[in-house]
Amino acid sequence: MKVIVCRNAEEAADLAAREILAALAAKPDLVLGLATGSTPIGVYSRLIRAHRERGADFSRVRTFNLDEYLDLGPGHPKSYRAFMRRHLFDGLNVPEDRIHFPPAEGSGLADRCARFEDEILDAGGIDIQLLGIGSNGHIGFNEPTSSLRSRTRVLTLTAKTLEDNSRFYSPGEFQPQMAVTMGIGTILDARRIILQAFGAKKADAIRAATEGPVSSFCPGSALQIHPRALFLLDPEAGARLSMREHHLRARENEETLRREGRL
Ligand code: F6R
Repeated sequence: MKVIVCRNAEEAADLAAREILAALAAKPDLVLGLATGSTPIGVYSRLIRAHRERGADFSRVRTFNLDEYLDLGPGHPKSYRAFMRRHLFDGLNVPEDRIHFPPAEGSGLADRCARFEDEILDAGGIDIQLLGIGSNGHIGFNEPTSSLRSRTRVLTLTAKTLEDNSRFYSPGEFQPQMAVTMGIGTILDARRIILQAFGAKKADAIRAATEGPVSSFCPGSALQIHPRALFLLDPEAGARLSMREHHLRARENEETLRREGRL
């Protein structure tokens, strides 16, 4: 696990986009795991800019989104499919049939969730999984007490998550209580993970995820056992880390080695 406390959210988005674009240059048929929410928007705008201004080609990329609300159809403006169209896919050249979401409508959901897992395997597994984190430590929609080896499934959102996300709904508007999410086990199968977190509201979750015990009560803590998990934080999200100074020093040391061409 590597933790970088960036100067601000912009720098974190620059670093995450740079990692993705370098991986794309090395592997044009990159398999990306994607998140929604406010956190990844900066990365998505940078990927769109790289596509428009520098010809970054996403035509062979496959994407798998982490989660979707139960029963919000793809045409619903609050669905995660609509979010991804608005913030990423409308600006890139990923072919429609290479974009995947967990099944969130109709019946046979358990079987179709298992099929979604098979689709990830058939694509060769996820190369880079982009994550945000909930203020309660959730990753994807894996709420506290989700099994650390869970797979894609239907689940009920906690009152905390509903409250955090109520900002997207006007009073009286229907807000879904259930969702379908990749499991923690699914996320841990990705070859690399980049988790971004911004703002003081995430400081406790980041401390629990990186310095607390590995526990299903903080799903983000599962990343401690992943060999290539990168946390990109702004100073507010990293403010409660007891290892903050160490992370800053480690970054400087690595930059020195990189400048010297040794890393
Ligand atoms: C969304 C997702 C969630 C969010 C988390 C943070 O696809 O997987 O885990 O990453 O709720 O949301 P924001 O970024 O809105 O703070």
